Amino acid sequence: MVKICCLGAGYVGGPTMAVIALKCPDVEVVVVDISAARIDAWNSDALPIYEPGLADVVRRCRGRNLFFSSDVERHVGEADIVFVSVNTPTKARGLGAGKAADLTYWESAARMIAAVATSDKVVVEKSTVPVKTAEAIEKILDHNGRDGVGFQILSNPEFLAEGTAIRDLLAPDRVLIGGRETAAGRAAVQALKDVYARWVPEERILTTNLWSAELSKLAANAFLAQRISSVNAMSALCEATGADVAEVAYAVGKDSRIGAKFLNASVGFGGSCFQKDILNLVYICECNGLPEVANYWKQVIKINDYQKSRFVNRVVSSMFNTVAGKKIAVLGFAFKKDTGDTRETPAIDVCKGLIGDKAKVSIYDPQVTEDQVQRDLAMSRFDWDHPVHLQPMSPTAIKQVSVAWDAYEAARDAHGVCILTEWDEFRSLDYARIYGGMQKPAFVFDGRNVVDAEKLREIGFIVYSIGKPLDAWLKDMPAVA
Ligand code: NAD
Ligand code: UDX
Repeated sequence: MVKICCLGAGYVGGPTMAVIALKCPDVEVVVVDISAARIDAWNSDALPIYEPGLADVVRRCRGRNLFFSSDVERHVGEADIVFVSVNTPTKARGLGAGKAADLTYWESAARMIAAVATSDKVVVEKSTVPVKTAEAIEKILDHNGRDGVGFQILSNPEFLAEGTAIRDLLAPDRVLIGGRETAAGRAAVQALKDVYARWVPEERILTTNLWSAELSKLAANAFLAQRISSVNAMSALCEATGADVAEVAYAVGKDSRIGAKFLNASVGFGGSCFQKDILNLVYICECNGLPEVANYWKQVIKINDYQKSRFVNRVVSSMFNTVAGKKIAVLGFAFKKDTGDTRETPAIDVCKGLIGDKAKVSIYDPQVTEDQVQRDLAMSRFDWDHPVHLQPMSPTAIKQVSVAWDAYEAARDAHGVCILTEWDEFRSLDYARIYGGMQKPAFVFDGRNVVDAEKLREIGFIVYSIGKPLDAWLKDMPAVA
């Protein structure tokens, strides 16, 4: 029986290994983590992450050939293939702070693997890492491993998106495996290919050299985020000219060379990957003496920051240039629908912007707990462009935030409603009821273009939708970005 161990029971490690276990009943898959609490949650009925379809897959495999354990060293020691899916956040201090990937977790995982391995191992980079990380990992393993124990490093980046992780894992556009171009390297690639080949068609399993695989992951995320910043940049121009960003995106996306996906204008992209991976790419470009290339990609993040502050400015300017003391309902806090993940969610920056202008913010999200909201808003924001830690919010500012149990409660007595996540339930709320309970004039600022603006205007709302022709009211109150 082939044994797989995965270091890191997070958003990637958990779902990825659950699907491998589902599709390979003859392979033993053990997911380990240094966080005992996370492992306990994986072994309970309340899984540590919300992902449609995940609970069902876990229920079918857990205890059969899928296990979650805190006994990291034992399971790494026993495995043939060790996936490393630990976190690789942006470095917060020291050399490269604010841009470079922090490989502390990776390095300690590699040192541990070297220390406990008594048989040959294929070590798979599942985390997103800077190009050439495999070389560093090889050095750590080779210098610290026991005599006679061999390691092969593979790069097998993960392309799943949160909210659709199980669907993406079951039917991936491609699986990418990079390895050394030696006999041992090719054998390791084949061993991993054999795992995926149980359910992924052969032509979708791409094999490359190590550096291409590592770089392709950063490139894919940069391209995706670049499309969003492109359409968001257009959304500002649409508002200035009377064009409709949805119509422009549709017309542009109909060109088969461009394609229709990832052209939804929004309040900005969030999530744990896009910003982090682009900053990492920027840093690698700078380190390789390519400042022009670095600046090109940096602009993707600058436009994203601009889009978030443009949204806040629009809210404040529409409401007579002040939101001081006014209640603003925030519908949606997660960085996208169908997940409870709030990492880098645009809602954090928007809420902080409103609170900075002394608004009282009432937040509702179907999957984000009050604790999580408070933690996110209390955290000091790492300012990527100027590597200093901004001050965390003061206790007084924190008091301006409340969390509601539903959208109606959040909007009661509010002056404005901001929609920041595209949860399906926000499309079909009883907006007449919401209007009835709000201060007048009542505003809706739709940061995800989910509501039918015309219907809401008929009810009486003043509506702002990203990149759409502006109401007369909004035209009279221009937002200065
Ligand atoms: P996560 O923070 O949810 O999970 C990482 C886990 O690794 C944590 O539970 C942590 O306790 C554990 N860990 C850290 N050091 C460890 C060690 N030495 N031994 C065992 N466990 C250890 O992170 P994530 O979202 O799953 O992301 C993991 C990697 O995958 C990152 O590099 C990320 O960029 C990449 N990635 C993420 C996504 C996504 O959608 N979240 C998609 C593709 C790729
Ligand atoms: C992303 C990549 O899609 C995935 O391949 C990679 O493995 C991890 O990073 P994820 O961050 O989970 O996945 O979600 P994604 O669907 O890409 O959305 C990221 C952000 O962009 C969200 O805030 C989303 O709302 C926003 N977005 C997405 C837009 O604003 N407009 C779009 O058209 C698409």
